[in-house]
Amino acid sequence: MPTLRVSRKGAGPFQVDENSNLMKQLLAQGIPVASSCKGDGVCGKCKLVVRSSNNNELFVKAFSADEQLHLEKGNIVAGQRLSCQVLVSEDLSVEAPYW
Ligand code: FES
Repeated sequence: MPTLRVSRKGAGPFQVDENSNLMKQLLAQGIPVASSCKGDGVCGKCKLVVRSSNNNELFVKAFSADEQLHLEKGNIVAGQRLSCQVLVSEDLSVEAPYW
């Protein structure tokens, strides 16, 4: 089971099911994630910085079509992911400016 580390004070780390949805896992742990589309990949508000815990490099695996579109439009920048579109396939560390 992958481990999630969260920059929010007092939160985590916690283990999650492999390939589970990042945003849903954070919300299930009571960690707030900005959103107005409830995970449909539309609003772009759920953006987080996501890194591999193994090497601290930005997690760039498996961008969804919605993420690519937000990237092309500049709604997210390199290093940011839409948490509603990310599957937790390995140990990850996540950061949000509002945590
Ligand atoms: S919750 Fe709206 S894009 Fe992720």
